[in-house]
Amino acid sequence: MARTHREIPHNVAGVPQVVVLTGAGISAASGLPTFRDSDGLWEGHRQEDVASPAAYVRDPALVQRFYDMRRAALASVEPNAAHVALARLERALGDDLLLVTQNIDDLHERGGSTRVLHLHGELRSALCTECASRHPWRGGLGTWTPCPSCGAHALRPDVVWFGEIPYRMDEIWPRLQTADVFCAIGTSGVVYPAAGFGQQAASSGARTVELNLAWSEVAPWFDDVRTGPATELVPAWVDEVLAQ
Ligand code: APR
Repeated sequence: MARTHREIPHNVAGVPQVVVLTGAGISAASGLPTFRDSDGLWEGHRQEDVASPAAYVRDPALVQRFYDMRRAALASVEPNAAHVALARLERALGDDLLLVTQNIDDLHERGGSTRVLHLHGELRSALCTECASRHPWRGGLGTWTPCPSCGAHALRPDVVWFGEIPYRMDEIWPRLQTADVFCAIGTSGVVYPAAGFGQQAASSGARTVELNLAWSEVAPWFDDVRTGPATELVPAWVDEVLAQ
């Protein structure tokens, strides 16, 4: 696909504007399952049974158990070299890096990143469907936990289910228009709007890179596709960006 794109150009300040999108693959090496790999979460559960508003109405206990189990698992995993490398990139680029994750784990934060946009929400946050307040949450939610703000028994996982609107898109779209570099890490490229971010950035002239164990659904649209484990590819890519 012939398209002129800027090598890693620098904006006026001489620093590349970088947008990074991560998916479940970046956390795989830490021991958290992905969704669509052979041992993925969607092998053991149907999305429509545990990750949709209708599922929550139909069987709230099953949905809460699914997320309570995943929230509990966070205590037994650690960030890996890929998370740490992206924190290093943030320290070097500051606000010129936008890190967007589809993951609801907290491994980016525990790896040292301080500005993480959780497009699909976070396991360690609870949302009250009665008063819309949000609360940091580490334990189980169950189905009878009262909201700390209003007392209603209406707390749900603060995650974006299928059919719901992803978070913080108003902050993401503009950065895709001005990015010099867009890098997708460990995502299969099958769930929109995230799957379209690479093409969006490319249409604005960004250089696009995919780091993945295997080619994703959208790999053909990327300028540069590198296959291998994120724990190896991401630190090397960060070194490359910072050497520009
Ligand atoms: N290193 C790099 N990439 C990896 C690794 C690894 N060690 N292990 C797996 N991958 C890649 C796989 O090749 C795959 O492309 O990670 C990707 C995981 O894809 P999915 O399981 O589909 O996860 P993701 O792309 O994050 O899913 C997007 O779908 O179900 C929804 O809300 C859920 O946020 C999720 C969204």
